[in-house]
This record gives sequence, structure tokens and C-alpha cells, in this order.
Amino acid sequence: MPTTSTNPHLPFGENKNADWYGKDIISVKQFSRDDLEYVFGVAHEMRGMVERVGTFDLLKGKILANLFYEPSTRTSSSFTAAMERLGGSVIPINEVKYSSVSKGESLPDTIRTLECYADVIVLRHPETGSAAIAAKASKKPVINAGDGVGEHPTQALLDTFTIMEELGRLDNLTVTMLGDLKYGRTVHSLARLLSQFSNIKLNYVSPDILKMPKEVMDEVGAKGVPQAEYSSLEKVLPETDILYVTRVQKERFEDPADYEKVKGAYVIDPTIMKVAKKEMAVMHPLPRVGEISTDFDEDPRAAYFRQMEYGLYVRMALLAMVLGKA
Ligand code: ASP
Ligand code: CP
Repeated sequence: MPTTSTNPHLPFGENKNADWYGKDIISVKQFSRDDLEYVFGVAHEMRGMVERVGTFDLLKGKILANLFYEPSTRTSSSFTAAMERLGGSVIPINEVKYSSVSKGESLPDTIRTLECYADVIVLRHPETGSAAIAAKASKKPVINAGDGVGEHPTQALLDTFTIMEELGRLDNLTVTMLGDLKYGRTVHSLARLLSQFSNIKLNYVSPDILKMPKEVMDEVGAKGVPQAEYSSLEKVLPETDILYVTRVQKERFEDPADYEKVKGAYVIDPTIMKVAKKEMAVMHPLPRVGEISTDFDEDPRAAYFRQMEYGLYVRMALLAMVLGKA
């Protein structure tokens, strides 16, 4: 195997001086515009390699511990696929009740255990701040795959990658976030990440009890991004370039009666979408539970299935970066 590559993004040797080598990925606040450009460049290379050869040996011999304390389909399986497409392997802990977590083992101890066996740890956990706690306990890189209502940084990276792929730009955009903006961690990360681009306008459409948290709005506002809150989509849909739909996060409600009041508050369908631009995209982190009618799936603006696929390339890029191979 050669020790160097002519491809600047995919050197074969481990580069311990690379910017992201050994780093944790906890928050989108770690990513500048230049970092994003770099991630997208590597993700493009990954996509090309997957299309050409399917699987290759960039991370051969490396092991990922995939530790999920909450349900997941996409994040868990795309990290597994990413590691395996790069020639590495995975310790899957998708059901923590079958691990020693059910005997009462603490998160730091669980992390200390897994770092003995793995080179990188992906963690999803119901508590905000858990990824930072895990990163503190670990000498190996920890990647936040969702920490309660906090952040979902790898989702926001794949979301911005999707916006680039769909519309070709991250500046000069009106982005409308719809649904559960209070408990939806994906919109907390995405609003923060978009706030560093130029001429961005953010519209937040939600029921009154599910508004975007003040903390996020203050951070985004401090970057000079105009933000406006609405309870109905009608007024803002015609100007929207990206409509980012979210699921009402049933599992986060303290009072189930409150969930009943707001579930089904918004449903995107072909009739509603008649007033939207021809060149725009509808995104959703998924899973959907009725917020987007399946009748809309064949519309060219429905980007949510492509968005899922892009997640594979972005996560391949992130694994290669933190393991010093990009
Ligand atoms: N899958 C995303 C998350 O884990 C969105 C959702 O569950 O609604 O945050
Ligand atoms: N988008 C997302 O995080 O999906 P999963 O919850 O299925 O991982």
C-alpha cells in the first residue's frame, strides 16, 4: 500500500498534525466556514469513492464504538455504514439495557470502558451536555450523535451539505424552520451553524409552546442574523428557500396532554406547496410522523431522502478527520 496519495483529501498515512486529529465533535460552534468547506470537500471525495469502489481501506483496523442510549435508525446505521465502507469495524451498543448501563454504570465509566477497545466513540444520550461529559472522560475522540434537546452537530453538518448540494449556496438564504423548535435539537444546531453565513434570514414557525429557545435566538441574533417568529406558515412560505420541517418530539413532553394539543399542527402537502418557489428545498431530519404527506415525496423539491444519503458521506468524512486520515 502506498504511503502517500495524490488526492489531498485522502492521504493513506495517519496525520497526527491534521487539525481534526483526535478531536471531539460536540457542538457546531467548533466549525468555522473554512472547516465546513473542508468537511464538504472530504465528503465529496467519499461520495466519489463509494460510487466508484463501494468500500475501501482508509480506516482499516480502526474500531468505532456506537453507543446509543436513545432510539436511532439513520445516525446509528449511517455511522456503522461509514465505518465499514472505510474498512473499519464497529462495536454496536444500540440497546443500552443489555449493557452494564442497566446495572447502574455511569456514563464516564462506560466511556472509559469503550475507549479501551475502540478508537472513536459515537454517543447519543437523552441528557443535554452528556457528550461534553463523555469527551472529558475519554482520551479517544467522542462524536455527539444527539445530546437530549441540546445539539445534533453531525446532522447540522449533513444539513448544510444538503443545502449546498440542492441550492449551491449557503449565503443569501431564507430558511424557515417549522414544527417543534423547542425540543428539536437539529434546529438548535442548524440555526447556530447557519448564523455565520451572509445574508441569512431565519423564520421560526411553531405552536406557541414549542418556540425556538431564547438561548439559541440570542446566540444567532448576536451574529446579526434577522430572526422572526410565526405561528402560521402562510406568510413566509412564498419567500422560503429552505423549508426545514421537524417532528413534534413526543418523548420530551412532561405533560402528554400538551403533546396532544400540538401534534399534527402542520402538515406539508402538494396543495400547501403551490405557493412556494420552484427552486427551493424541503428538508426533514426524519423520522417523520405525518408532518410531510407522502403525496409530496415525488416533488423535485422534496430533498429529505437525498439528505439521508448525504449523511453517509459527511460521517465518513468526520471519522476520517478525527482519526487523522483526512
Ligand atoms: N432524528 C432526529 C434527532 O434524533 C430528529 C427526530 O428524532 O425528530 O434529533
Ligand atoms: N436524523 C436522525 O438523527 O435520525 P435517527 O434519529 O433515526 O438517527
